[in-house]
Amino acid sequence: MRKRIVAGNWKMNTTPAQGYELANEVSELSKSTPNNVELIIAPPLTHVALIAQSLAGSRIKVSGQNCAAWEKGAYTGEVSAEMIASTGASHVIIGHSERREYFKEDSETLLKKVNIAMSNGLMPIFCCGEKLNERDANEHFKVVEQQIADVLFKLSANEMKNVIIAYEPVWAIGTGRTASPEQAQEMHEFIRQLIEKKFGNEIAQSTSILYGGSCKPDNAKEIFSKTDVDGGLIGGASLSAKDFIAIAKSFPK
Ligand code: PGA
Repeated sequence: MRKRIVAGNWKMNTTPAQGYELANEVSELSKSTPNNVELIIAPPLTHVALIAQSLAGSRIKVSGQNCAAWEKGAYTGEVSAEMIASTGASHVIIGHSERREYFKEDSETLLKKVNIAMSNGLMPIFCCGEKLNERDANEHFKVVEQQIADVLFKLSANEMKNVIIAYEPVWAIGTGRTASPEQAQEMHEFIRQLIEKKFGNEIAQSTSILYGGSCKPDNAKEIFSKTDVDGGLIGGASLSAKDFIAIAKSFPK
């Protein structure tokens, strides 16, 4: 019913030559992966075009890791959604916790980015997730609800059909400390209920919700076995084609 997706967020890793090689290795190994799993890789912007061209015609989709909140103009150092789309990329990650934290991206900015991405034909992978102190204070549901309400609830139902959600508890990103499958399921179910209340059952049931945060070949099976977990947004492990593909093979039959 809804898509199973494994997306690799390479972050600020690989040179163009290394990225090109990694992308082709992923593409080669993907031949052994079930066809009902969508594979996406998000290389750094310097090599998105190169990789999108090299993977054209393959089953691997290419994503940006971020886009500007403006269409075009005097924004030194920024890259627009139109530019990213023109490379052949189909997706863009919006609101990753590293963008929220280090670049102070707030919900107002993220809503602009989601809108601009969609108006240029890019499918947003919208990230949400609580920090450790918020979980410890038992505020994780409240925090995630606010992040979703501030951005996704501002979209129309038709727009919402073109959004992928990634739940990434900040305390699990790059820390080796993953959420338990139960913690992931509990939050994914909660997010789906939020989407259902706002947009109805059909959209809630067809929205893919990915888990992110220290997802590895040895824990993906358990996490992906949960009903409301539709795949993963993979950081560290996506830098190894073998690990990334092993994760993509971790869905229940
Ligand atoms: P990680 O990163 O898999 O290295 O924890 C996930 C992410 O930030 O998307």
